[in-house]
Amino acid sequence: MSHRFRAPGRVNLIGEHTDYNQGFVLPIAIDLACTVSIEPAAEWTATSLQFGETHVLGSAKRGDWTDYVLGIVEEFGRGRAPLHLTVDSAVPLGSGLSSSASLEVSLALACLEGQPIPPMELVRRVHRVETEFIGLPCGIMDQYISVFGRAGRAVLIDCRTQRSHLVPLPAGVEYVVVNTMVKHALANSAYATRVAECAVDAQALGVGSLRDAVISGGRPRARHIISENARVLEFVAACERGDLKAMGQLMFASHLSLREDYEVSCPELDFLVDQASQFPGVYGARMTGGGFGGCAIALVDAGDATAFEHTVTDAYQGRFGRTPAVYRVTPSDGAA
Ligand code: GLA
Repeated sequence: MSHRFRAPGRVNLIGEHTDYNQGFVLPIAIDLACTVSIEPAAEWTATSLQFGETHVLGSAKRGDWTDYVLGIVEEFGRGRAPLHLTVDSAVPLGSGLSSSASLEVSLALACLEGQPIPPMELVRRVHRVETEFIGLPCGIMDQYISVFGRAGRAVLIDCRTQRSHLVPLPAGVEYVVVNTMVKHALANSAYATRVAECAVDAQALGVGSLRDAVISGGRPRARHIISENARVLEFVAACERGDLKAMGQLMFASHLSLREDYEVSCPELDFLVDQASQFPGVYGARMTGGGFGGCAIALVDAGDATAFEHTVTDAYQGRFGRTPAVYRVTPSDGAA
C-alpha cells in the first residue's frame, strides 16, 4: 500500500505583498489540497495526474512542474532510497491559491516519509527551494500557511519574527473565491519588479524594510505597504469583535490600494470586486495572491452565497466571455 501526504492551498484574507517587506499577512489554509503518494522505485520518478505525465527526474530543470519535484527532492530526498511520487492536486494551477507551495510542502513530507521535522524548519527549507532553486523572490506566506493552517481559523503571521497567532473567524459568512481564469504573462516578472521597487523605497526612506516605514514620502509602493500592514491589524481586531462590516470595508480598501498604489490588479479582478461591491449580501471583496489575474475573494453572508455565485458568474461571462470557477472555501488544517 502506498502512503499519502497532503498539503493545502491558501487564500489570503488581507495583507498582500507585505510578506517580503517583513510585514503582516492573514491567510487561511483551504480545503483544496495537493496529495502526493509514494512507492519505492529504482530511480526518482514523478507522475502528475493533472498533466497526465510521468518523468524520470534528471539533474537539470526542464522549465515545467517537475522543477518543483527536482528542487524538493534535492533538498529533502538526498541520501534516501528513490521513490515514485504521484502528484494529485485539487488546487487550481497558477491561480493565486498557492498551488506551488502546496505541491512543494506535500512533496517534502513525502520525501521525509513520516520522519519528524520541526514545522518551522520545514517552512524555511521549502521556502528556500522556491526562492533559490525555482528563483521566485517570494515571501514566506504560502509555505507557512500550508504548514500552519488551522480549521476555522485565520493565521496572523508576522513575517519579521516568523511567529503567528490564530484568529477566530466570525460565523454566518462564506469565503467565496472567484477565479478570473487568466494569468497575465507579466505576473512573475512584475512580482520581482515590485520586490526590487520596495527595496529602493526602503533605502530612500532610510529603513531596513518597509515594515518600519511610517511615512511614504509620496512613494506609492511604500504607501501601499504601510497602509496594508495597518489594515491587517485593524482587520484582526474587527474579526475578534465579529464586525463583518468593518472587515468588508478593509477588504475593499486593500483592493483599491493594490490597484492604485501597488498596481498589481487587472481589469478582470477589478470587475469581480466591482460586481461584489454592488451585491447586497457581500461585506467586502479584494484580489488575493500576487495579482495580474488569479482569484478574488468575497466575504459573503452565508444566506446570499449561492445567489452571489450565480450573479457574479453570469456577469463575468457576459463581460469577458469565459466562465469563472467559483470555490466556496473553508478555513482548514495545514499539512499532514
Ligand atoms: C505570492 C507570493 C507570496 C506573497 C503574495 C502576495 O503568492 O508567493 O509570498 O508575496 O504573492 O501577497
